[in-house]
Amino acid sequence: MSELEDGLRLRQLQRERSARKAAETLLESKSLELYLANQQLLQLNASLEQRVRERTQELVAARDQALEASRIKSQFLATVSHELRTPLHAVISYSEMLLEDLQDVGLERLMQDQRKIHGAAQHLQTLINELLDFSKLEAARMELDNETIELDELVANLLDTLSPLAEQNGNRLEVRLAEDAGPLYSDRLKLSQCLYNLLSNACKFTEHGLVCLEIHRERGAGQDWLSFTVSDSGIGMDEAQLGRLFQPFSQGDSSITRKYGGTGLGLAISRGLCELLGGTIAVSSTPGQGSCFLMRIPAELTTTQAAQQTPLFQEDHDAPA
Ligand SMILES: Nc1ncnc2c1ncn2[C@@H]1O[C@H](COP(=O)(O)OP(=O)(O)OP(=O)(O)O)[C@@H](O)[C@H]1O
Ligand SMILES: [Mg+2]
Repeated sequence: MSELEDGLRLRQLQRERSARKAAETLLESKSLELYLANQQLLQLNASLEQRVRERTQELVAARDQALEASRIKSQFLATVSHELRTPLHAVISYSEMLLEDLQDVGLERLMQDQRKIHGAAQHLQTLINELLDFSKLEAARMELDNETIELDELVANLLDTLSPLAEQNGNRLEVRLAEDAGPLYSDRLKLSQCLYNLLSNACKFTEHGLVCLEIHRERGAGQDWLSFTVSDSGIGMDEAQLGRLFQPFSQGDSSITRKYGGTGLGLAISRGLCELLGGTIAVSSTPGQGSCFLMRIPAELTTTQAAQQTPLFQEDHDAPA
């Protein structure tokens, strides 16, 4: 081999060696960078996990506090309403007795005042009862008392109670009870209360119109359902009102409160009770034309169904298929 070739090979070797060294240095510095970045990531991850743990603890504590506050509020409401009812019951009973006495002695002028006292006390009693029902529902302290319900008897009782209300606004009250609707096994009082609330609303928000209750039986989701449709040809509701419906203490607007009174609890209670009965309430309405409430409950409320009640005032309230 010539000296020239030796020199060339030596230089090539030196070039390769320095290139390898440069590559090794680069690799080392990159590895170091990677190591440092990894360390930073590990630290970040650890601190993130710590923050998530702290946040979760804070949220759990806040939720527990809110639940406890809500429980205490419901308990307070239930106790206060109960305590208020006892003396109020005495006021109503004594004002009835006084009315009879005044009638006996023929004091018509005093009787008018006495009737106002009696009426106001009864109104107060209705409001307190609503608050009591609402707080019981909210505190999930409502119990079911199921029995076989005769639908024609239930309807007759409702008509008796509601006729004066319908007449007051010049409304016609109609009932269409399908022949094959019965039998029904559920909680009679709670069902009556739901229907009363829906029908009394229909009578209240309709003038010189038609209020109709339709009852029939249908099949869905592997069982029989009783469907109660309460329709009216009254003032109706717009989209905004419908969006707020069933919320406790919510009424159409302040003019409705002024004109029609009420507390805005009736529908919230009805939906709570209906869900307790394993059912749902849906609504459709057109302003100026009328409203239609559709309530469906299982024809036979079994113990397991009752035990699986959906929580009160949850968001998803789809009607059964
Ligand atoms: N059939 C109906 N037609 C038109 N509006 C209705 C009807 N039913 C309910 N609403 C509207 O929904 C609101 C809430 O009804 P809800 O029964 O809860 O309360 P309320 O009747 O005002 O008072 P309460 O029932 O507590 O005496 C009513 O104030 C009214 O604005
Ligand atoms: Mg009402």
